[in-house]
Amino acid sequence: MMGYKLFTHGRTDVKILGLSCSPRRQGNTEILVGEALHGAEHEGAEVELYSVSGKTIAPCDGCGTCRETGECHIKDDMQNLYNKLVEADGIIFGTPIYFYSMAAQTKTIIDRTIALNHPGRSLTNKVGGIVVVGGSLGLIDAVKSLYFYIVTRPMLPANFVAAYAGPEGEIRKREQGMKAAKDLGRQMVQLAAKKFEYPSEFMGRAIAYGTHTH
Ligand SMILES: Cc1cc2nc3c(=O)[nH]c(=O)nc-3n(C[C@H](O)[C@H](O)[C@H](O)COP(=O)(O)O)c2cc1C
Repeated sequence: MMGYKLFTHGRTDVKILGLSCSPRRQGNTEILVGEALHGAEHEGAEVELYSVSGKTIAPCDGCGTCRETGECHIKDDMQNLYNKLVEADGIIFGTPIYFYSMAAQTKTIIDRTIALNHPGRSLTNKVGGIVVVGGSLGLIDAVKSLYFYIVTRPMLPANFVAAYAGPEGEIRKREQGMKAAKDLGRQMVQLAAKKFEYPSEFMGRAIAYGTHTH
C-alpha cells in the first residue's frame, strides 16, 4: 500500500485515453471526458483526448478477415485510433445519448474493435471507464451496454459517470458530475497502476450457452 502511494505521487507510466464520441466539438461529452483526463493527469498519468468529431470512421462490414490477421481492411481514421487504443492502459468511453442509447459514432468504434480480438493487440486487462451525457432519457441503457462491452473484452471496469446536460456546455453547471468525472480519471490511474491481469484460465470462455455454443 505504501509503495503504491509513493508511486502515484510521482509521474506514473500509466497512459489514459479519453474517447469523446460526440460529433459536437467541445460539447458536453468532450468537456466531461476532458475533466476525467484532468483527474488522470493530476494522478500522474499521460493523457490524450481523442474526439471523433471530424473523423471518418466507417461501420464494421463483418468481413471477418481481422479474425485471421488482427487487422481491419477498412483504411480510415480507425487505423490511427487502433494504435492509440492498444497503447493505452486505460480507456474512457465517452458518449452522448442519441435516441435512448449510445450515439452511432460510439457503437461504430466499438464494433470496429472486433479487430482487437487478437493476441498481442487486444484491449484485455486495460481499465475501462464510462462517461455518458444526455438531455433526458437513455443514460442507463448506454452505461449498461458499455459495461457489458468492457467486461467482455475483458477489461477491468472502473466507475461510470452519467450526467444530464442538453445545450452545448451545460455540463459545466453539473458541479458534482464534473467532480465525479475527475475522480473517475484518478481512479483509473490508480487501478491501472495495479497492473491487474485476468487469470488466463478463464480467458476466451464462452459467455452464452445454448445458442451459438453448447
Ligand atoms: C440526434 C440526437 C438524439 C438525441 N436523443 C437523446 C435521447 O434520446 N435522450 C437524451 O437524454 N438526450 C438526447 N439527445 C440530447 C444529447 O444527448 C445532449 O444534448 C448531449 O448533451 C449531447 O452531448 P454533446 O454535447 O457531447 O454532443 C439527443 C441529441 C441528438 C443530436
